Amino acid sequence: MKVSMTVILSVFSALLLSVSLAANSDPSLDNFLKCLPSNSLPSYPISEAIYTTANPSFESVLLTYINNRRFLTPTTPKPLAIVTALHESHVQATVVCAKSHGLQVRIRSGGHDYEGLSYVSEVPFVILDMFNLRSIDIDLASETAWVQAGATLGEIYYNIANKSNVHAFPAGVCPTIGAGGHISGGGYGTLMRKYGLSVDNVIDAKVVDVKGNILDRQTMGEDLFWAIRGGGGASFGVILSWKINLVRVPAKVTVFKVDRTLEEGATDIFYQWQQVSTELDKELFIRAMPQVANGSVEGTKTIRISFYGLFLGQSGTLISMMNKRFPELGLQQSDCIEMRWIESTLFWFDLPNGTSIDVLLNRPRGAQSFYKNKSDYVNHIVPKEALERIWKMMIKAEPMWMQWNPIGGRMSEIPDTATPFPHRAGYLFKLQYSINWREEGTEATDRYISLIREMHDAMAPYVTKFPREAFQNYRDLDIGSSPSNQTNFEEAKEYGLKYFKGNFLRLVKVKGMVDPDNFFKHEQSIPPRWM
Ligand SMILES: Cc1cc2nc3c(=O)[nH]c(=O)nc-3n(C[C@H](O)[C@H](O)[C@H](O)COP(=O)(O)OP(=O)(O)OC[C@H]3O[C@@H](n4cnc5c(N)ncnc54)[C@H](O)[C@@H]3O)c2cc1C
Ligand SMILES: *[C@@H]1O[C@H](CO)[C@@H](O)[C@H](O)[C@H]1NC(C)=O
Ligand SMILES: *[C@@H]1O[C@H](CO)[C@@H](O)[C@H](O)[C@H]1NC(C)=O
Ligand SMILES: *[C@@H]1O[C@H](CO)[C@@H](O)[C@H](O)[C@H]1NC(C)=O
Ligand SMILES: *[C@@H]1O[C@H](CO)[C@@H](O)[C@H](O)[C@H]1NC(C)=O
Ligand SMILES: *[C@@H]1O[C@H](CO)[C@@H](O)[C@H](O)[C@H]1NC(C)=O
Repeated sequence: MKVSMTVILSVFSALLLSVSLAANSDPSLDNFLKCLPSNSLPSYPISEAIYTTANPSFESVLLTYINNRRFLTPTTPKPLAIVTALHESHVQATVVCAKSHGLQVRIRSGGHDYEGLSYVSEVPFVILDMFNLRSIDIDLASETAWVQAGATLGEIYYNIANKSNVHAFPAGVCPTIGAGGHISGGGYGTLMRKYGLSVDNVIDAKVVDVKGNILDRQTMGEDLFWAIRGGGGASFGVILSWKINLVRVPAKVTVFKVDRTLEEGATDIFYQWQQVSTELDKELFIRAMPQVANGSVEGTKTIRISFYGLFLGQSGTLISMMNKRFPELGLQQSDCIEMRWIESTLFWFDLPNGTSIDVLLNRPRGAQSFYKNKSDYVNHIVPKEALERIWKMMIKAEPMWMQWNPIGGRMSEIPDTATPFPHRAGYLFKLQYSINWREEGTEATDRYISLIREMHDAMAPYVTKFPREAFQNYRDLDIGSSPSNQTNFEEAKEYGLKYFKGNFLRLVKVKGMVDPDNFFKHEQSIPPRWM
């Protein structure tokens, strides 16, 4: 996300243009476009928000919010039009007109969906793009804020910090993620052990339902309000905005990053990390990231584990806590940096010390690389012999890398049924597998995706079973999917139980109540009924 995208954008624009021009004579598109002005307010002309393929800015609007190059190829289906809503009434009009003219809508906020579901469909579709709706209204007196769906996490963090050094919001690490999709899927980050997920800190929302009505918590009722807090985006309606609780953080927090290789005893340290990371004070979050590195002997490979920490307190307290609870890591005062919480968000994003927090205001700039991510949950400590096997498998699956995130703390206090997100008490770690590449073409894509799938298969003995669970925000079509235009109930059960466990049943019930005709659908949406 740090490199300029101009080159990639222009290469792909040329390819796109030839593909997209072919699609412009769809009668339902004409009817849809005619319908829009008569369903929105003349004081907010919707014409300014509409991009058809004939518009010279069509490609740049489409490409800017595509995060994954896997869904930016000449054969990727393109939308018939993009509505970049400038006012809430434009969202209402898009829903009403798409529904009455039989067009599918894909809703996009930050465009970070791992499988591109916010901007790709196999059937004729339009994109409802939310990036212009990004106001952030902070009320420090009540320690709350209203944030619109198109705001990025970086903008939310920045605006909070611009008002207060001792407030924060628990959400993800990448600053260009959109609030619309992120919070819809749970939203987790480094404050999870202290304050839970983003959805645990959402207290109201504004949604456009399938009839085009704007609802808030009171008018939507508690069932729908429950479902939108983690049940996944684009199944229940369009999120216009969230009302969030700000949480308190100290004026100075402490961060560290410590690397240990196998030669330096990483296996023992990691084994000990498994024992303590979920039991430590809620103020301390330590992520472990194993990845393949060069060994000390030329030509050999090893595993290097990076331990990233955030402590909501000062370094002296942290060091004495670590000496008592996790001395194996050997954390030194010199590893620790004290900074404002807002600066810690840059540290976690691997930006160099001293980077201006203004980078948090950068908008997405298009896709950097091709990638595939997968997830797992672990509920038993993995024995040392198994860790040795895992490291060997990782070396075979290079350049795949892993991220282990400890749960516990506040997460264990919130019941599994409080929100659709079910992986709480009794879970130890959330795992993410990740692989990215820059070579073009299907051969490279197939090769890299096979590597991450093989690694995921090989991890089966160590992770949750029946079902093998997954994190909704780490969307993965390998775990089950339906066709673009028709939710397949048997398939929906596959992915639904993995993402939501028993909460899937309640999600289906809510869907049946609010969208019985299944207008809001995609490859992993919630079906309105059992069949
Ligand atoms: C680099 C990177 C880092 C990440 N880090 C984290 C992390 O630390 N923690 C974490 O929890 N997740 C993380 N994620 C996953 C991320 O939270 C999800 O991909 C999330 O869905 C992205 O939201 P978005 O608005 O950017 O995506 P989009 O692609 O715009 O949307 C994602 C889904 O939500 C739907 N949707 C979007 N906006 C709305 C709306 N307004 N109303 C209804 N539905 C909507 C879309 O149709 C789509 O189905 C990361 C992803 C990436 C690419
Ligand atoms: C930060 O706040 C100050 C005043 O409180 C304001 O002038 C400035 O514009 C704000 N910065 C941003 C980027 O919103
Ligand atoms: C690892 O070693 C290979 C040669 O064995 C070398 O080409 C590569 O640059 C090294 N990588 C790093 C990160 O040092
Ligand atoms: C980080 O930057 C600050 C000033 O920006 C400096 O005082 C501090 O020493 C730096 N820390 C490290 C570990 O580089
Ligand atoms: C998913 O994988 C990509 C590519 O490796 C990476 O940039 C991204 O940060 C990963 N997602 C998370 C949440 O780490
Ligand atoms: C889904 O799309 C396919 C192919 O475009 C079409 O044949 C089928 O009738 C569609 N089904 C529904 C329910 O719209």
